[in-house]
Amino acid sequence: PQPSRLDERGVLEIGGCDALELAREFGTPAYVVSEDDLRGRARAMLAAYGARAERFEVVFASKAFPCTAVYRVFAEEGLGCDVASGGELAMALAAGFDPARIYFHGNAKSVGELRAALDARVGTIVVDNGDEIARLEALLGGRTQRVLLRVTPDVRGETHAAISTGQADSKFGVSMADAPAAIARLQAAPGLDLAGLHFHIGSQLLDVVPYLRAVAAVAELGDFPIVNVGGGLGAAYTDERPPSIEEYVAAKVDAVQAHLGLDRVIVDEPGRALVANSTVTLYTVQSVKRNVSTWVGVDGGMSDNLRPMLYGARYEVQVADRFGGDVLCHVAGKHCESGDVIARDVMLDDPRPGDVLVTPATGAYGHALANNYNGVPRPPVVFVKDGDARLVVRRETSEDLLARDV
Ligand code: LLP
Repeated sequence: PQPSRLDERGVLEIGGCDALELAREFGTPAYVVSEDDLRGRARAMLAAYGARAERFEVVFASKAFPCTAVYRVFAEEGLGCDVASGGELAMALAAGFDPARIYFHGNAKSVGELRAALDARVGTIVVDNGDEIARLEALLGGRTQRVLLRVTPDVRGETHAAISTGQADSKFGVSMADAPAAIARLQAAPGLDLAGLHFHIGSQLLDVVPYLRAVAAVAELGDFPIVNVGGGLGAAYTDERPPSIEEYVAAKVDAVQAHLGLDRVIVDEPGRALVANSTVTLYTVQSVKRNVSTWVGVDGGMSDNLRPMLYGARYEVQVADRFGGDVLCHVAGKHCESGDVIARDVMLDDPRPGDVLVTPATGAYGHALANNYNGVPRPPVVFVKDGDARLVVRRETSEDLLARDV
């Protein structure tokens, strides 16, 4: 589904709501999320698996957009949930996720986090390393816990180094060389039920070929009921051409069926692909100046979208009621450093202070990576659907910035 379009006056509409009215009602910056888009992508992912695999589970990698309302949507759509910390676990449970459908991840889980996961009776803990096995055994206290073992398959997906995870020299998972010993140890541990293996080779992947190599590597480690193939499908931000959900699912299912047979349960953990394109960020232009380049200053920046600074990520920007244009600009945030640029070399239509700008595709790792740099309160999250808008996370205030002082 296309979450946004231009109405007859040339104003951006998202979820049937006018972008300028949303900016007036909720202020800027604001994340605006099309609920139908979230649901549509979850359904497309489930349908693609349903058409090809006998036994599968689609799990929302909640790190991409950890917000109660988003968790709730995906719980309602029948997805499982990947959490990577005690905090994400608390949010998933608060949103009503069935603990049995939760996968608890992390390369450095603390005793407190493991205890919280066991106490919540999460369905699966994805064990990352030998130290964790010992800690988990000590905490079981007679309980039985289903686990997967995360391995690093020595497969490199084509993506930014910071979000490539499956290489041999990775901080995630056990190496192919150490995996047999870890498997033996888990199988010998009373109370730990090793149901399968997990790998994740990287995020924002635009090519499905590496999955085939990763599944082939994991297949060498033995026969287990479950294989978790770890998400990773890229999203289109500007001119990227990611595989469709159907192509991506077909590649993963074919790889598993080729190397592991037909009766394997395939678990997938998409994050970005479910949420990136559901959301736009609205900003208001505060200043326009000419310093060699044309600099358009907006009321947000690296506190609401860190991805350009961390990964050199590129975004589009448009004036919400005047798409197109021929003024070459850099759209800069309000933070005190020169790297705080949301988009370089974008064409805008004569931008002026007071204009509402829109950055599409900010649903994945936008709100998730938001921060309070320069004491900037984090933006609200607004859900839109069929012309109605509802606030699901309010804007932070100065009081929030002071709330933890003792
Ligand atoms: N499963 C595991 C164990 C993961 O570590 C990740 C992402 C996923 C699933 C979901 O991957 P996805 O489908 O979203 O690609 N902050 C970075 C992305 C970090 C991804 C980390 N792990 C960014 O903004 O690009």
